[in-house]
Amino acid sequence: MICYFSGTGNSMWVAQTVSERFRDNRLTDMADAVVSSNNLNFSLTEDERLGFVFPVHSWGIPWIVRKFINRMTIDNYSNQLIYCILTCGDDSGLTNKMLLKLFRRKGWQCRHIYSVQMPNTYVVFPGFDADPAELEQKKTAEAVPTLEKIMAAIVSDSPIDCYLQKGQQFLKSRIIYPLFCRFAMSSKPFRTTDKCIGCGVCVKNCPTHNIRLENGRPVWANNCTQCLSCLHRCPQTAIEYGKESIGKGRYYYGKRKDSQQ
Ligand SMILES: Cc1cc2nc3c(=O)[nH]c(=O)nc-3n(C[C@H](O)[C@H](O)[C@H](O)COP(=O)(O)O)c2cc1C
Repeated sequence: MICYFSGTGNSMWVAQTVSERFRDNRLTDMADAVVSSNNLNFSLTEDERLGFVFPVHSWGIPWIVRKFINRMTIDNYSNQLIYCILTCGDDSGLTNKMLLKLFRRKGWQCRHIYSVQMPNTYVVFPGFDADPAELEQKKTAEAVPTLEKIMAAIVSDSPIDCYLQKGQQFLKSRIIYPLFCRFAMSSKPFRTTDKCIGCGVCVKNCPTHNIRLENGRPVWANNCTQCLSCLHRCPQTAIEYGKESIGKGRYYYGKRKDSQQ
């Protein structure tokens, strides 16, 4: 079983690749499950693996993923192999420690926590922007062999060291991450410009079903997890987040490929 969350497609690519390789078609969309279902009770077969795939948000676990794991129960857990594959722009911080703490509380064991570097999607804070095209392509290409190594480690149940971490972990994950979860989740700054044609792509792609169209324009409710899917996937580049996203790059997995087709 693979539980995934993805705003802009990087983690979706990982989840799909793993699903194909492991012949594991049991994919659960964590955001959808949290928003749409009261029942997060699952059972696993004796040798079924349980995987979690999601992006790092502010050097930690996106709140929707935390909520899913907190609420998730497994009927018949008997030390089935649990693995986590995170995607990040360049630094996963202490997300691994946070996950281990969550799992410990549930009595679950996890020896495989990895991160894969993918193009950055955080563009709504000063100093943060999408990667230039060359770096985006380099990261996407290098992610393929990295993910191969990770999948081999999981299949053979031989943990490897494959986790991206830079300096100032405590500051990033223990101080900034809680502040981010508390103060940066607002969807109020989202707005559309004159370029909006009311196509509803943002509505369709919002993982938390947080956007609706009113009079042909998107309106955001209060269940935002800041994945920025709406902003990056808008075909008209008509969505901004306050002034912070103006002039910044837009990216989602496969966009460049799509536009060449
Ligand atoms: C709100 C937000 C916070 C992010 N924080 C981090 C971070 O702390 N470290 C990092 O390396 N990348 C960070 N990123 C980049 C994403 O983790 C990365 O681009 C990821 O692959 C996106 O996955 P997705 O396309 O599946 O949503 C952040 C992105 C967003 C939208």
